[in-house]
Amino acid sequence: MRLAVLRERRSGETRVAATPETAKKLIALGNSVAVEAGAGLASGYPDAAYREAGAEVAADAAGALSGAGIVLKVRAPLAQGEGDLDELSLIPRGALLIGTLDAVSDPARAGAYAAAGIEACSMELLPRITRAQSMDVLSSQANLAGYRAVVEGAGAFDKGFPMLMTAAGTIPAANVFIMGAGVAGLQAIATGRRLGGRVSATDVRPAAKEEIKSLGASFVGYEDEESRAAQTTGGYAKQLSAEFYAKQAEVVAAHIAKQDVVVTTALVQGRRAPTLITAPMVASMKPGSVIVDIAADAGGNCVMTRPGEAIVTENGVKILGYRNWPGRIAGAASALYARNLLTFLTTFWDKDAGAAKLPQEDEIVRGVTLTRGGAVVHPMLAAQPAA
Ligand code: NAI
Repeated sequence: MRLAVLRERRSGETRVAATPETAKKLIALGNSVAVEAGAGLASGYPDAAYREAGAEVAADAAGALSGAGIVLKVRAPLAQGEGDLDELSLIPRGALLIGTLDAVSDPARAGAYAAAGIEACSMELLPRITRAQSMDVLSSQANLAGYRAVVEGAGAFDKGFPMLMTAAGTIPAANVFIMGAGVAGLQAIATGRRLGGRVSATDVRPAAKEEIKSLGASFVGYEDEESRAAQTTGGYAKQLSAEFYAKQAEVVAAHIAKQDVVVTTALVQGRRAPTLITAPMVASMKPGSVIVDIAADAGGNCVMTRPGEAIVTENGVKILGYRNWPGRIAGAASALYARNLLTFLTTFWDKDAGAAKLPQEDEIVRGVTLTRGGAVVHPMLAAQPAA
């Protein structure tokens, strides 16, 4: 089986879907791996490293995709009109495409894969079950995003994180507040603590409170009957009522005014990120304090976040609203993402056939499969017309 790894062309995407390490392992399974030239460069993996691992470096996307049975991507391949190359048209019929294809927010994509006869698997739809943890791209990437957000927040904060005692006087420890204590938020708490900050955190899911405390941070938040049922069976936060959000905002408002660095990570699956920081809250913060909005890609948790930008407000608060936080730590993010894909493939690898066999009765396979045999089959998208 020939596997193709493309250079990511979507704006701001620095990651790559296979590293020399995973390419080597895929080759050891009996495959050949073709990597488009320059695919790993932005993540710190030069073409020579892939060659050394035994992969072929193809001059362009067409060369890498020619004859490929499996295509590994970070983001959805570009379709006609999306950029200067129609990657989709180059993917051979019948090929298995694996990536974070984001087909739920853009359902037309799945229809296009079905029409092109591509068997597409979208890894962000992976069910959150124990068996799937080592393939969980959302977790691996969120973890690094949480770390990176705190490090960048510390970089933008012009005082120290730990208490700094010097002969010239003492700089107090930074007050660090993490909003949303899922995978990214928990890593942000741990990183903030390692850097010596005084860390507090909030979340709506009841389970998060104990997790926050177990990492040595204090819990700040409003709880009521509604929030005690705020978690879906899939582990995600539910959309809550306007009344709940108003009460939560009251509790947070008093706390936020005293914070030096606030990292927001709150997401509600399939929706715009909830607004947690209002303009009056930003106005209440001290000059020089920093808000790092990891949810910027989903619209942001702070009303003043400008997705893709770092800004300074009139009262001197810095708001880092960069997109693609995992892409800001691309070497590690690619390494983990590539291992997630490798684990997915090896879990369903049929050694005799020398190919991935994806049994639809398997919960993991059913969770990620968008298209099969020319039709859209994912339950969240099945209303799409078949090819
Ligand atoms: P996420 O990225 O969807 O959201 C981030 C956090 O924001 C969540 O903790 C959510 O509760 C919180 N949030 C949403 N609305 C909020 C609001 N108004 N105020 C404050 N916080 C708010 O979630 P993520 O990080 O993907 O994790 C969700 C859960 O899934 C966690 O419990 C995690 O441990 C669990 N999980 C389980 C896995 C498994 O069993 N395989 C794998 C990964 C995560």
